[in-house]
Amino acid sequence: MIVVGNWKMYFGPEPSELVGLGAIVCPPYTRLLDCVEAGLTTYAQNVHWEPEGAFTGEISAPMLLELGVRGSLVGHSERRQYFGETDEGVGRRTRYALSAGLHVVACVGETLEERKAGETENVLRRQVSVLEPHERLVVAYEPVWAIGTGHTATPEMAQEAHELVKSLLDVPVIYGGSVKPDNAAGLFAQPDVDGALVGGASLDVESFAAICQAAARIPS
Ligand code: PGA
Repeated sequence: MIVVGNWKMYFGPEPSELVGLGAIVCPPYTRLLDCVEAGLTTYAQNVHWEPEGAFTGEISAPMLLELGVRGSLVGHSERRQYFGETDEGVGRRTRYALSAGLHVVACVGETLEERKAGETENVLRRQVSVLEPHERLVVAYEPVWAIGTGHTATPEMAQEAHELVKSLLDVPVIYGGSVKPDNAAGLFAQPDVDGALVGGASLDVESFAAICQAAARIPS
């Protein structure tokens, strides 16, 4: 099971308190080094598709690698929603990051309107179509309507989406969207759920530890 904590634009917990949980953390850029130095497996929240250049506000794979950062999220729905990231850009970021030696957690997922319109499968097919299988690639299925809302997809809904993603791309698929200690085990019990991308609950050490423990109870 792969458990990833996405701190978003929050300062987040003390890295030393997360040692031994076996999780990956994605802190804001200013806290990357603290997490690396604490010995945590640390990923960034985004990464550019060029090694360097005139791209104000961006960060590159060689810069992250130099810090000891091992991977990055790409295509989080908040990047797509608020910062205009496109499928094409997600594909470029992912390809370059993988070729530079980073791990990538590429995020996909439908909005509520898309789900209601019966478009979930088409959206996932389109978002996954820019990705290619790679040993350092993981996909996070995060239905947008479940992120930060307290509405979690049922384990069966997650399973259905994960099965589809896996039929398109042979990589581990983790679930994200209001994962909490009390719903984690049900999600992890699904055959095609390979872990969790945890936002809000990763900011609280006790909750995050409980989710990591639920993951550790699933035989690999
Ligand atoms: P959430 O966020 O757990 O707070 O819903 C998940 C994410 O955005 O990665």
